[in-house]
Amino acid sequence: MKKYVLVGAGSRALYMFAKPMATDWKGIISFEGVYDSNPLRAGYLSEECGGIPVYDHFHEMLSAVQPDVVIVASTDYTHHTYIVEALRAGCDVISEKPMTIDEEKCRDILRAEQESGKKVTVTFNLRFAPYFARVKELLMEGVIGEVYQIDLEWFLDRRHGADYFRRWHAEMKNSGGLLVHKSTHHFDIINWWMNSKPVEVHAFGTRRVYGDDRQDHGIRCLTCHRQDDCEFYMDIEQDPFIQKYYQQAEGEDGYFRDRCLFDRRIDIYDTMSVNVRYESEATLTYSLVAYSPYEGWRAAINGSKGRIEVSNTYSNADMKQGEASQIRIYRTDGTSEIVEVNTSAEGHGGGDAKLRQALFEGGVADPLGQQADSHVGAESLLIGATANRSIAEGRALRLPDVSPGVGVQRESASR
Ligand SMILES: NC(=O)c1ccc[n+]([C@@H]2O[C@H](COP(=O)([O-])OP(=O)(O)OC[C@H]3O[C@@H](n4cnc5c(N)ncnc54)[C@H](O)[C@@H]3O)[C@@H](O)[C@H]2O)c1
Repeated sequence: MKKYVLVGAGSRALYMFAKPMATDWKGIISFEGVYDSNPLRAGYLSEECGGIPVYDHFHEMLSAVQPDVVIVASTDYTHHTYIVEALRAGCDVISEKPMTIDEEKCRDILRAEQESGKKVTVTFNLRFAPYFARVKELLMEGVIGEVYQIDLEWFLDRRHGADYFRRWHAEMKNSGGLLVHKSTHHFDIINWWMNSKPVEVHAFGTRRVYGDDRQDHGIRCLTCHRQDDCEFYMDIEQDPFIQKYYQQAEGEDGYFRDRCLFDRRIDIYDTMSVNVRYESEATLTYSLVAYSPYEGWRAAINGSKGRIEVSNTYSNADMKQGEASQIRIYRTDGTSEIVEVNTSAEGHGGGDAKLRQALFEGGVADPLGQQADSHVGAESLLIGATANRSIAEGRALRLPDVSPGVGVQRESASR
């Protein structure tokens, strides 16, 4: 039985990995340790998972357990250090998205992977959600011929979207901004549907709603003098999970789960537009806002023989109560068709459970190419990282070549 350890003890680590590993997957894999820089949070996770050993240091966990696989589900800016150390210790790695947050860290990971001969898998759960997977299947069947262009509009609501601005994600140095942290999912789905490599990016980004210290505000909702009139007030004491895992543990690391949305440290964008050109000469037009009245996404895929339209609007990040079940196909011969999809309401549209099966069962057939390796992880994060540079420099940029052995190149997108 393969031995697994976990880095990170936050919400994703608990619900996506620790609990299922300690219950449904017990006896198939062996879950043998957890490390988090906040020992209280790691202790709470351990209590809920049958007393899994908690380690004070990552290297101590590696040498005590000698794991086959390290799962990395800590904050984004820490992923690369654990991925590289785990690879060099002879472990395979399962990394939460984004694999890392910038080009340099991405190079370090790819180099360590090549030198160690071990393998990094990135958990792009949306590839496993039935609705996204059915679109991929239709594209592989050629229902609209060659893909020429995709439009994707993604909108986060004022609860889910705002939440990124309350936490570590709100600072570029921690998350790479939403174009890396969040859009890595979206760019990955598009890269997968396109079946081509992204080569050039031109982006714009602004901050219109959150941040910039532009209102009379407090430090956090819990102690704020504007609790009665702030539209974003959030009472963390109403949520037993947040209260236990974050509020009770904040003395250890000062991680306030309800930091003010107008904090001056916020430097990520809440309004983003990105154009991407692919090797196939297909293009993507993408937008993301983090303050919509309701949440969801819409996409149109234009091809040589027709067009596919897909969309989903829902009330929370788990995509529950989503209405996505129909894929509309319009052909150039004037005919059209509606394809019904049986969508699951569980974790990310059914993606999480299917992803765990692919990760833990081993040898699962993969006709759609849903399992993502480090190169797939790199392609989507590099669109976001290059978009950030494009915004800062005000020009279109080529994606960097991060293959091991290739040095840092800086060039604009003149063709
Ligand atoms: N695939 C998905 O749909 C999905 C959904 C949510 C989060 N995620 C990813 O999961 C990861 C965790 O996100 P989360 O929402 O659980 O965040 P979180 O803030 O709840 O948890 C992050 C954890 O990392 C720990 N940490 C911080 N610095 C550390 C360090 N140096 N070493 C070890 N641990 C450290 C924190 O103490 C915290 O327990 C992120 O990479 C995020 O992008 C993926």
